[in-house]
Order: sequence, then structure tokens, then C-alpha cells
Amino acid sequence: MPEGTFRNRAVLVTGASQGIGREIALQLARHGARVGLMARSRSDLEATAAACRTEGAQALILPGDVGSETDCEAAVRSTCADFGSLDMLIANAGISMLSAFEDLDDLEPLERVMRVNYFGAVYCTRHALPHLIASRGRIVAVSSLSGLTGVPTRTGYAASKHAMRGFFDSLRIELRRHGVSVTVAYPGFVDTGIRERAVGDGLGRGSGRIMTASECANRILGAAAQRRRETVMTRKGKLGPWLKLVAPDLVDRIAARSVGFSG
Ligand SMILES: NC(=O)c1ccc[n+]([C@@H]2O[C@H](COP(=O)([O-])OP(=O)(O)OC[C@H]3O[C@@H](n4cnc5c(N)ncnc54)[C@H](OP(=O)(O)O)[C@@H]3O)[C@@H](O)[C@H]2O)c1
Repeated sequence: MPEGTFRNRAVLVTGASQGIGREIALQLARHGARVGLMARSRSDLEATAAACRTEGAQALILPGDVGSETDCEAAVRSTCADFGSLDMLIANAGISMLSAFEDLDDLEPLERVMRVNYFGAVYCTRHALPHLIASRGRIVAVSSLSGLTGVPTRTGYAASKHAMRGFFDSLRIELRRHGVSVTVAYPGFVDTGIRERAVGDGLGRGSGRIMTASECANRILGAAAQRRRETVMTRKGKLGPWLKLVAPDLVDRIAARSVGFSG
């Protein structure tokens, strides 16, 4: 990524206590950004903040739940109060769902996944927006390959990630006149604990080629630096939309195989 892009920039990262968000925060810190770190676990946020400060960065911990609009507003307010501006929002916080739809006792898991993954990103964006317009800043939304195609055992998760795509692809067009870029990231399997922490009975955990959180974070920040509209992270993910035009059933079979779902 171009040297200096993030130097001194004020960035709010959600889901910064673990996994991809933690890596994003650390890499931003190495690039000289000032980082606001939001997640629910205060102790994990303190650990991320300490690691960012070791890199010489200012880091602010913002314990809160992205499923609460009040918490999202407070996180944005604190970041702007401390740093004086906001240059980038990284809406990364998310949870997964692993279960066949027919095996769910009720719809609470789908509502929870939608609240955290979709509304969490929307709430943060709403409150960050005036500040990002003022700075002609950047929005980054972390979706998933499940936001591009259906995946068995992930109905609720795929729905939330498709919803993010619809929202941010639309918002990008609205924000062009303000000079605010919107980058949507579509990772495949990334080596984090998300599947162990998933809602549901764990069906379809999947296996296969897995990217490190560090590589994923690096690609996300590279795309954000260049204000690219999206970054699709695997070869299958890049080919999928083309293949879907001519052989949609084959894409369904590939998706089922990738999570070990035999039907
Ligand atoms: N790992 C993958 O294979 C993969 C693939 C495609 C897309 N993604 C997406 O990448 C993003 C990050 O995933 P990850 O793999 O890094 O997961 P992870 O290791 O489980 O980390 C998720 C982060 O989100 C935070 N979070 C969860 N619920 C939250 C809530 N209600 N409010 C605030 N923060 C919350 C967690 O912190 P607390 O628990 O402390 O709140 C944690 O910091 C997610 O949006 C995920 O859907 C991941």
C-alpha cells in the first residue's frame, strides 16, 4: 500500500479485540494511524491497544456492542473527541452461524446475526458519516464470500452478509459526491476463532485452504488505501459470479463442498 496513506489518520475499527479486526488495528498502528478499538471484551481490547501502543500508535479502547445503536454512537463520539476527526471506519465486527435452518429451534440466531453483522455496520456508519464526509474519508465493510453466494448451514450469516453488500454498494453511489469511498471486503476462510464462537450447532464448519488473519488484514487495508470498491479474496470467489451465469448449480455444489455439507 502507498507509504503514508494512513499516517496520523484517525480510524475506528469494530471487532478489534480478536481475529481480523485485531490484525487490522495492529497493521494500522504500524502505518502510523491512531486507532479507536471497539468490541465487547474490555480485557481483549486492552491487549490489542497495548500491542498497538508498542508500535508507537495512539490507541483508544471503546468497549461496546455493535448491536446497540447507542454503543455505536458513543464509540464514534469518543473517537472523534479524542482524535479530533475521523478518517476511516472499518465495520468488521461480526459473528457466524453454523446450523441447518431446519435444525434451529427458533429464529433468535438469525435475528442476532443480522443485528450484529448488518445493523452493527449500519449503526456505526450512520454516526460516523458526518465526520467521514468532513474528512472525505473511507468506509470499509467486511462482508464474506457468503455475501456473494448462498452457502448451506449459513442461511442467517449469508443473509446478513448479502444485506451488507446491498447497503454498502448503494451507499457508495450516494457518497461519491462527497469524496467518501466505500470498500467491501469478501474474505474466504480466515484462520480465526469465528467458527468456534459461531451461533448454532456447528454443522458445516468446513475445511480447506485458509488465509491468515494477517494476510486478510493486509489485503483489506491495501484495498482501502486505493479506495477500491471491493476486494474478493479467493480464486473461487473471483470466478464464482462468472460461473454462476452459466452453471449456477455447479456453484451451489462448490459452496456445499467447501463447508463439507453433503445434503
Ligand atoms: N474468519 C473467517 O473465516 C471470515 C471469513 C469471511 C468473513 N469474515 C468476517 O470478518 C469479520 C471478522 O471476523 P473474525 O474471523 O476476525 O472473527 P472473530 O475472530 O470471532 O472476531 C470477531 C470480532 O468481532 C467482535 N464482536 C463480535 N460480536 C460483537 C458485538 N456484538 N459487538 C462488538 N463487537 C463484536 C469480537 O469481539 P467481542 O467478542 O469481544 O465483542 C471480535 O473482536 C466478521 O465480520 C466476519 O464475518 C470472517
